[in-house]
Amino acid sequence: MKKRLIVLGVIMSSILSYGQTLKSPNSEHELNFKLNEVGTPFYSLHYKGKEVIKESQLGLELVDDETSLMNGFEVKEVSETSFNEVWEPVWGEQSEIINHYNEVAFTLEQPEMNRHIIIRFRLFDEGLGFRYEFPQQENLVYFVIKEEHTEFGMTGDHTAYWIPGDYDSQEYDYTTSKLSEISGLFDDALTGNASQEQFAKTGVQTSLMMKSEDGIYINLHEAALKEYSLMNLNLDESSLTFKSWLTPDAVGNKGYLQAPAVSPWRTVMVSDDATDILASNMTLNLNEPNTLEDTSWIKPIKYMGVWWEMITGKSTWNYTDDLPSVKLGETDYSKTTPNGKHAANTEHVKKYIDFASKHGFDALLVEGWNEGWEDWFGNSKDFVFDFVTPYPDFDVEEIHDYARSKNIEMMMHHETSGAIRNYERHLDTAYQFMNKCGYTSVKSGYVGDIIPRGERHYGQWAINHYLYAVKKAADYKIMVNAHEAVRPTGLRRTYPNLIGNESARGTEFQVFGGSKPNHVTILPFTRLIGGPMDYTPGIFEMDISKLNPDNNSHVNSTIANQLALYVTMYSPLQMAADLPEHYEQFMDAFQFIKDVAIDWDESHYLEAEPGEYLTVARKAKDESSWFIGNVNGTTPRKTQVELDFLEKGKTYEATIYADAKDAHYKTNPQAYEISTKKVTSRSTLKLKSASGGGFAISIIEK
Ligand code: NOJ
Ligand code: CA
Repeated sequence: MKKRLIVLGVIMSSILSYGQTLKSPNSEHELNFKLNEVGTPFYSLHYKGKEVIKESQLGLELVDDETSLMNGFEVKEVSETSFNEVWEPVWGEQSEIINHYNEVAFTLEQPEMNRHIIIRFRLFDEGLGFRYEFPQQENLVYFVIKEEHTEFGMTGDHTAYWIPGDYDSQEYDYTTSKLSEISGLFDDALTGNASQEQFAKTGVQTSLMMKSEDGIYINLHEAALKEYSLMNLNLDESSLTFKSWLTPDAVGNKGYLQAPAVSPWRTVMVSDDATDILASNMTLNLNEPNTLEDTSWIKPIKYMGVWWEMITGKSTWNYTDDLPSVKLGETDYSKTTPNGKHAANTEHVKKYIDFASKHGFDALLVEGWNEGWEDWFGNSKDFVFDFVTPYPDFDVEEIHDYARSKNIEMMMHHETSGAIRNYERHLDTAYQFMNKCGYTSVKSGYVGDIIPRGERHYGQWAINHYLYAVKKAADYKIMVNAHEAVRPTGLRRTYPNLIGNESARGTEFQVFGGSKPNHVTILPFTRLIGGPMDYTPGIFEMDISKLNPDNNSHVNSTIANQLALYVTMYSPLQMAADLPEHYEQFMDAFQFIKDVAIDWDESHYLEAEPGEYLTVARKAKDESSWFIGNVNGTTPRKTQVELDFLEKGKTYEATIYADAKDAHYKTNPQAYEISTKKVTSRSTLKLKSASGGGFAISIIEK
């Protein structure tokens, strides 16, 4: 690991009105910081000489504190640092990551209150990160946040790719509109989701991707969200300024802090090339290094699941349909009538194990294996899951032995139904049960209102829980993939056993009415900025009525597009989500899912435009093979891919999985063509993508 650290400390005596500038290592970004005449901090950001964040306020409002941390500040100390290191992630898009930034930290004092905070700015070649720090001191010990007042002033009416600023769901389709159009489109944007209370009709979620009229891409998000509430952004339409809006708790407060403490980093990525946003490691670099000494048990996973058949309604999670009439919590399931559609039964699970094993998968997820699903959607919440009691037709031991004999790991499922206290009470026994029964990873879920106090999914209380569950899992050498938890902010660097999250609209929504065909061209610029997503690709049967005659949904994607997702939607956890019988119909296309790597040495973002297309090439970790993925929006498109990233002098065989001429996400989604070609670093491939289509290419050394 190379490290360089230069500290240029400057001690300031009290300076009332103050201004200072800092440049990024490549000099393209310039930060300006100042205090105004009443001691309120402001910052602005320029990119290649153009203003991208206009003068924007900083500060925090506290409960029962008149002055708050808003004004009356004087600069006490300025400390400049430069940092440059290379570090190796446990898993990732690349085996080495450069962390290079220039930093300035301002110690700001409120003389009247005799207390101080620090605002720390880091400028990377891709943009800015900054945070508030609350050092330990006599006059700022324990405090409650009423609201954070961080602003991001936009310099124009940019195009934004946004979802509503909800406190409990991130599972929306994206709307593309001008900033000034957000409020008018807000209600439509909520359609199709179980909408919960919205804080404002202009509030949006991060990571927020934008594009200015002169072609500059701006991305706002946060990094290292810990012991703090999640930030949404509320647009003041008159000034086109986003204002931070933290998620409240059950009584309306926005965070309980005890110094020493820090806020998460607020991030602003800026570039005139959209691929720079995809390639950025700024979010990861703003997180603390790995805290786990032994990571030998953490491994990327390619998995299948007894899952899609429940999502589509072909089968059920619950064992019986008649439980609500039985006294909750004292149910002898073997005395209830099975509904005949319970998928998590030993015989059926073994068939999945056979298929997954035959085709080289690592693991199998089984949902609906444990008691409690009958009341899950009911009103009575006195019966919730205990995470250790299987249904009578699910033989844990037999399945475990069978899986082991076939070289398949079992993936546990913990649906908490939002009952976080109940989950925490059972967590140790649940993880111990996993250790005993040979489960090495868990998919957890937080569907529904947070019980018991009516907390929000993204408030400080729930956020503390999600991390508690991940840390405790590490004690048991368990990898976590949490659904409906808070959207990631790069914590995977610090806790690499957090191998996945959902926290956005995944493939399951194709079954709940369908997502827009260009959804997957936006997610890498938004949700994936914070970390990998368990998107669950690999659907080959797009007509859901074939699985369940009562569901007329259509998966808005071609098969080639589904294959490309394994490359474009980076994740160390990749699922082949469809049913074995659907793969059996298209074994030649399934070959790509079998071949594709899930851990990488290098990633090259070849071309990208949010909402339109993106093409990514990645080199498999410790291997010579490469994989390319392209996903396309609705307009059919031609492109050329130059293979100049291949090792010079080597010959490879490229297998191209492309949309057939007449393919279309709606009318002809299963039409694909597979061709092979000898290629070298001097080759260029000419390719076409259909509406809602794409291509996937494996390049194997010969
Ligand atoms: C929602 C999750 O996203 C889905 O994957 C899971 O099957 C259900 N909850 C049930 O836990
Ligand atoms: Ca979900």
